Amino acid sequence: MLSAQITGWGKCLPPAVLTNDDLTHLMDTSDEWIRTRTGIGERRISHVSTSTMATVAAKHALACAGLSGEDIDMIILASATPDTLVPNIAATVQAEIGANCAAFDINAACSGFLYALGLATAQIRSGQNRRVLIIGAERLSFYVNWTLRDTAVLFGDAAGAVIVEAVEQSEPTGVLAYAMHNDPSGREHLRVQGFGSDLDRLSPEATEFFLDFNGREIFKRAIAGMGALSQQVLEQAGVSKEEVDLVVPHQANVRIIDTLVAKMGLPAEKAFVNIEHHGNTSAATIPMALCDALEQGRIHPGDTLLSCAFGAGLTSAAALIKWGPRTTPLGHSDAELPPCDKTGLELVADVAAHQRRKAEGN
Ligand SMILES: CC(C)(COP(=O)(O)OP(=O)(O)OC[C@H]1O[C@@H](n2cnc3c(N)ncnc32)[C@H](O)[C@@H]1OP(=O)(O)O)[C@@H](O)C(=O)NCCC(=O)NCCS
Repeated sequence: MLSAQITGWGKCLPPAVLTNDDLTHLMDTSDEWIRTRTGIGERRISHVSTSTMATVAAKHALACAGLSGEDIDMIILASATPDTLVPNIAATVQAEIGANCAAFDINAACSGFLYALGLATAQIRSGQNRRVLIIGAERLSFYVNWTLRDTAVLFGDAAGAVIVEAVEQSEPTGVLAYAMHNDPSGREHLRVQGFGSDLDRLSPEATEFFLDFNGREIFKRAIAGMGALSQQVLEQAGVSKEEVDLVVPHQANVRIIDTLVAKMGLPAEKAFVNIEHHGNTSAATIPMALCDALEQGRIHPGDTLLSCAFGAGLTSAAALIKWGPRTTPLGHSDAELPPCDKTGLELVADVAAHQRRKAEGN
């Protein structure tokens, strides 16, 4: 039986930190409100492009799996914030790692990584490809309007990557089941306004795009969507919720995670939470969480992981994964981002001032 197993993992965190206290210089908010309502303490702001972060994460994942770029059959890059729409940025990563294969981007917002994992699993199970590099990479700070306190405090920049490889085993292993869904009735509830090919290029507003959402509506739908697809993958694989060792959910709000696991009847300790230091990094959250969970010894050989996500679209996705025999890297890469000589606050200050002037009508 051909199974799709995660054999390499890597992440990239840009160095500049934007703390909750920093945000109080930009808007009427407080560390106490952000921590208690979201679980977030700080987030990273990238000084480089999404594809640069993606490349660093990919190089770490390759080294972890003991592979090089030439070994990869396909690259799927999930991002809602690619540095270029044409060409896709999977191509940029491909050039950097020296791969000779198919490469494309997908946009399923925060569910993008799990959508990519589902696509990679189908490729591997069909025998079409043996080694797929999946990356979730986001520079969400690009979309943030720093005058909107309900959205601006939530998002951060990062990238995470995994290698999914074909393994032959008599018992199912790796990705046991996956599910993807989209609820178009909610597509207006979470969107980047004013950015895309239908914008009027002659309008003075043409560059005034920003991310906006209906937070309460998303909150409710996130729990329902992730809960339904989690149940679906458990049923597909014939695995009971008691057999799940770790839940690796999308990191949008710690209260969404707490409510999700409580509704599923699972103990809160079974959920992996790393939102405090990263915020919501959309498609990067789950590969980043896998890396952090492995570093912290929260994943053991043979563990059953349930991962689920929710995002603009409104997309949702889940995967049930039987982890392989290895939880330590086979090798290490020295790939890193170029140094950054600015703080997180300095990186966003000019855009924030411009947005404030616009909001005040100047
Ligand atoms: C956005 C979110 C954190 C808001 O939390 P909430 O508990 O629903 O808060 P509310 O929107 O009800 O706002 C409560 C109050 O806090 C205020 N508030 C909002 N953001 C604030 C901030 N950053 N600092 C201080 N106060 C803030 C509101 O203005 C409101 O004040 P009011 O009662 O005087 O009107 C929460 O709804 C959420 O996480 N939603 C989903 C996020 C999402 O869509 N993520 C992306 C998709 S994965």
